[in-house]
Amino acid sequence: MGENGLPMPGFTVDIRLAIFENGDRITDFLISKWKEWGQDAIRMSNSFNVALSGGNTPMTFYKKLAELQNGFPWWSTHFFMVDERFVAFGHPDHNFSMIKTMLFDRIDIPESNLHPIDTESSSPDASAEDYERDLQSYFQSVKKKSPRFDFILLGMGEDGHTASLFPGTDALHEKKRMVTTSLLTHAPYARITLTYSVINRAKNVLFLITGSSKAHIVKRVIEKRDPQYPASRVGVANGTLWFVLDRDAAYLVGDA
Ligand code: 6PG
Repeated sequence: MGENGLPMPGFTVDIRLAIFENGDRITDFLISKWKEWGQDAIRMSNSFNVALSGGNTPMTFYKKLAELQNGFPWWSTHFFMVDERFVAFGHPDHNFSMIKTMLFDRIDIPESNLHPIDTESSSPDASAEDYERDLQSYFQSVKKKSPRFDFILLGMGEDGHTASLFPGTDALHEKKRMVTTSLLTHAPYARITLTYSVINRAKNVLFLITGSSKAHIVKRVIEKRDPQYPASRVGVANGTLWFVLDRDAAYLVGDA
């Protein structure tokens, strides 16, 4: 089993595992990867294209990123959303609003570099269609034939969902569209999510997972790639798949 970003042998997908003692170490690692990938992307294609997730786990990272202030080329960085809840802007569960508070409001970045999912449209399906158009037109403008993110940050829930790709939903089987909706029986509102077709085409996809409550699923996802858990179906074709974990989330990895 690889450690601290070493490749894991025996997998066709390039999977890297990085396990850290605590949250501060994780954040330092993420910041250093952010700088490395950002600078590489901007050197090669003048822009750094990223998609970020909601949830609680990445909040510290977002706050730390904001501390880079003028030490990062924000004007060449474009932010997209991995997923969104179909609630109004400013709602406590609205992912973009959370990231705006933690990060976007604290850095010098043009509004046109921020790409929220419009949740004020007539329906979740209309939002998903609009966002797909946004993705297409942005990536065409930077001369990429189809959306290929430099970096996608994912989380994972205790049921093995990632983005808004939940067990047993149609969204898991969406092959043509890059953005779709998820209707959940156990959640009060619909979600809009990137699909595997765009996630699995990225250069670097990184799962950030902490806490012992996720340890059993982490093991099934990393070691068995068990397809009943949506996170296992993330398999980057021409890029690298990262699992960045704290000790609590990783404590079963490597055990028989
Ligand atoms: C969201 C997400 C979702 C999240 C996981 C983990 O909008 O909630 O994008 O996929 O990453 O549910 O969430 P936590 O970090 O809160 O555990």
